[in-house]
Amino acid sequence: MTLDSTQGDPAILSALEHLSYTWSWGRPPRLLTLTHRPPQPAVPTTLSGGVGTQTASDLLDQWIDQCRRHRGLVDVQRDLGVDAVGVAFETGDQHILYSMDRSGVEYLVEGQRYSTTRSAAGANLGGQALDSLAEKVAELTWRLAGWPAPAAGARIRDMWPKPGLVDLDDDELHDRLATDAGHVRLLAVTSIDGLAAVNGTSAALSSPGDQRVYQAVKRDADVLLIGAGTVRAERYGPTPLSALQIARRRSMGLAPHPTVAVVSRSLDLDLTGPLFQQHTGRHVPPRPILIAPAASAASIDPALAEHVDLVVAGETDVDLAVAVQQLRSQGHQRLVCEGGPSLAGAMTRAGLLDEICMTITPQLLAVPGPRITDSSGAGQGADDWQLRRSLIDEQGNLFLRYDRLPR
Ligand SMILES: NC(=O)c1ccc[n+]([C@@H]2O[C@H](COP(=O)([O-])OP(=O)(O)OC[C@H]3O[C@@H](n4cnc5c(N)ncnc54)[C@H](OP(=O)(O)O)[C@@H]3O)[C@@H](O)[C@H]2O)c1
Repeated sequence: MTLDSTQGDPAILSALEHLSYTWSWGRPPRLLTLTHRPPQPAVPTTLSGGVGTQTASDLLDQWIDQCRRHRGLVDVQRDLGVDAVGVAFETGDQHILYSMDRSGVEYLVEGQRYSTTRSAAGANLGGQALDSLAEKVAELTWRLAGWPAPAAGARIRDMWPKPGLVDLDDDELHDRLATDAGHVRLLAVTSIDGLAAVNGTSAALSSPGDQRVYQAVKRDADVLLIGAGTVRAERYGPTPLSALQIARRRSMGLAPHPTVAVVSRSLDLDLTGPLFQQHTGRHVPPRPILIAPAASAASIDPALAEHVDLVVAGETDVDLAVAVQQLRSQGHQRLVCEGGPSLAGAMTRAGLLDEICMTITPQLLAVPGPRITDSSGAGQGADDWQLRRSLIDEQGNLFLRYDRLPR
């Protein structure tokens, strides 16, 4: 999320500046929605004059409550094509227009009588005041404006059990893929001929549609479980989330970010890699969890130990059933296993997967590479699976969701 309003939409900023010029002192706080509709590039609409509200924070609370209770209000606003939501209020000798667009970009205009200044970081508001308003504005923006348009090529529709005639927005996509609490789900992408990686990574198999599904599945997770091999091969790190995505997670009772949990025996992890990158800003992703067997944990490098929360499971190899149990006992109910093949194979053989979300990309590659589950360990997965949902994007990627049939 950025606080630099100059990166946002100039039409939204200019509408806010115009409002700032016309603001009268002594008004109660107001909630604004901004739309891009001709003939004006940005049209502000006042949704509420703050009846019975003393502060901007109260006003936002009232509207969040209204939106949570009245689905119709949200639908009408989305039909109007809202692009940004803002709040207008006074503080000290300033009036403030603070707004956020559906990408999570913030806009701040501070007005003093007949002059306005753009401010990048809300200097006069004080960090904490702005932080608490930002979370509320983010939730209202998500509810009233919805999500940004998907990237080129990433429009997705229902295919089965019912074919869809309209493109799914990110909330609808999430509804199709929402996981059940207590479930462990595997997330994977493969070519038609079953390849899980090309030249050492899965990048060539992915697509804008796959990225949308990937984000929707991860957005639901408490923990992202990943093998150390993938962390090394893909220089894996936490995915940045927009303010709106964080607001959506919070509304579901989830932490702002999922926690990454790496499974490793060697504990060979690069402390300068993206997984351990220092983050700044309002929401900092949590420290990664490192799941290791007792034999490895006993000799962990102190520098690594400082950067992780250690979970010990098993003696010489990680006992994955114990690891999953420990994660659950820490309150992590929705686990998404991102692979790679060694970890996914071991999870399959241990019978620990409840769901699979896989993308089949329309590529036939005929090159060497791993499958989505490695078969090198002892035993085999003996479960049967049932297709629950399939979606398709405009490039022909298939998104399949399977549930394990009861044993
Ligand atoms: N297509 C897809 O959906 C997808 C998804 C993810 C990854 N990939 C690709 O898959 C490749 C990497 O796969 P991979 O199979 O080599 O790696 P991986 O499954 O990500 O990780 C394997 C490593 O995890 C640790 N591990 C797994 N099970 C363990 C256990 N029971 N006890 C202790 N440690 C355990 C070990 O780490 P240590 O070596 O540290 O001991 C092991 O070497 C990459 O090319 C990546 O791009 C594809």
